[in-house]
Amino acid sequence: MVNIKRDSIKMQIVNNFNGKKSNQQYPVERRLESFLHLLIDIKMIKNITVIGAGTMGNGIVQVFASHGYAVTICDILETNLETALQTIANNLERRVKKDIITEAVKQNALKNIITTTQLAKALKDADIVVEAITENVGAKQKLFQQLDIHCKPSCILTSNTSSISITKLGGFTNRPAQVIGMHFMNPVPVMSLVEIISGLLTDVKVKNTIIELVHALEKTPVEANDYPGFVANRILMPMINEAIHTLNDGVAEIQAIDQIMKLGMAHPMGPLELADFIGLDVCLSIMQVLHLDMGEAKYAPCPLLVKMVDAKLLGVKTKQGFYQYIDGSKDKKPSNLFAK
Ligand SMILES: NC(=O)c1ccc[n+]([C@@H]2O[C@H](COP(=O)([O-])OP(=O)(O)OC[C@H]3O[C@@H](n4cnc5c(N)ncnc54)[C@H](O)[C@@H]3O)[C@@H](O)[C@H]2O)c1
Repeated sequence: MVNIKRDSIKMQIVNNFNGKKSNQQYPVERRLESFLHLLIDIKMIKNITVIGAGTMGNGIVQVFASHGYAVTICDILETNLETALQTIANNLERRVKKDIITEAVKQNALKNIITTTQLAKALKDADIVVEAITENVGAKQKLFQQLDIHCKPSCILTSNTSSISITKLGGFTNRPAQVIGMHFMNPVPVMSLVEIISGLLTDVKVKNTIIELVHALEKTPVEANDYPGFVANRILMPMINEAIHTLNDGVAEIQAIDQIMKLGMAHPMGPLELADFIGLDVCLSIMQVLHLDMGEAKYAPCPLLVKMVDAKLLGVKTKQGFYQYIDGSKDKKPSNLFAK
């Protein structure tokens, strides 16, 4: 009798996973009765779906495609998909010219990528989803509910979030045991680190699969616990925020602040150029999560950062932030907004 009941509950969840029912929350013990037994072996992972074709999405796609995975990239904007494909093609070409990869590797990587704006189509065959959309809880909530409906039961849902709780993202689904943080660093093809964050209910088998996958991408996984900003951004973002305060207080000019931190601390990039590179909107979102979730005044975003985002001066992606960027080249000069 009990078994029949359990089977019917499982069928109910299977139907939900197959998209026959809208997303609804089950009691936690049922949600934990997940589909871990269906979890695929690392060798069976073939299809990766990346959602979000922005700064991070295109780098993540490039890395998976270059390592032989079939990658579908999905964005709400067709133009962003076109830009992402062009960026990936340019990056791969640069790697060919530098003799890092062969022309054949480049061609194979490009053949491995398909693009779409249709979410359900993008998710149908996914073994692993990497979510890399805007750093906004509401947007991620809507997306994770959709991922839960459209992905097959065994699919693992990963997020590239910089700061948002993985436990919270898992709670938007009926498969919290299969939700995990896979935090790539920017630029993804160059940076070795991937921060791995388990939520409170993430299953250890899921974590081990993702760690193996990171090794398969020739990157280095390092685990962190599920706290706002994890390790990387809990330390990095307050430093960037303080650099913006330093500029706002007139302590030094843009280039001086960056040069002091590069030459004095042996940082490869100054904090203001790094903020532009990350995206000032992303920096602000991370500071807001740290401020709200930690509840401490020291994490309040600098008013100048808020003002820059309000003015849509987002850094490299809008060609103006603390620096102005000359189209198609790496040349930049400090923004004249801050000239004395
Ligand atoms: N920028 C960085 O240096 C960096 C580093 C590590 C992690 N991250 C994290 O990666 C994620 C993405 O950041 P980014 O810098 O690439 O952002 P971005 O603004 O460059 O790109 C976001 C992309 O997501 C798309 N998008 C938004 N909502 C969508 C939806 N519902 N479905 C499909 N596509 C959608 C947008 O059209 C855009 O192309 C964020 O969570 C961010 O915190 C960023």
